[in-house]
Amino acid sequence: MPKLTFKNPYGPGSAALTVSCARGASILDVAEEHGARVGHACGGNLACSTCHVWVTAGLDSLPEVADKENDIMDKAFDVRAESRLACQAALGEADVEVEITEESLKAWLDENPDERKKLRSTAP
Ligand code: FES
Repeated sequence: MPKLTFKNPYGPGSAALTVSCARGASILDVAEEHGARVGHACGGNLACSTCHVWVTAGLDSLPEVADKENDIMDKAFDVRAESRLACQAALGEADVEVEITEESLKAWLDENPDERKKLRSTAP
């Protein structure tokens, strides 16, 4: 059973979150199940790029990027060699570590305005 680590599950400066997950689950599935803040404006239908994450470990264990994922990723900001769309990246046997992009966190907060208000009320 692979482990997935979110380096910044609740935004910048948050402690890492590591969870065991089912082989074949997408990074987005696991994020939603465990409350990590990965945006998903299109509901995982490969139409928005808001689920953009950087895979900082275990990238080679994920399925290859399909042409359609590449096309949609062109809409994302700060795309890197380790970029993936979380809704398309299914876990294999290996452990994986990801960093949620600022773009994706912002999208998540747009989808969860109450959490954005809480963040603002606790900001220094
Ligand atoms: S949630 Fe929209 S492309 Fe992944």
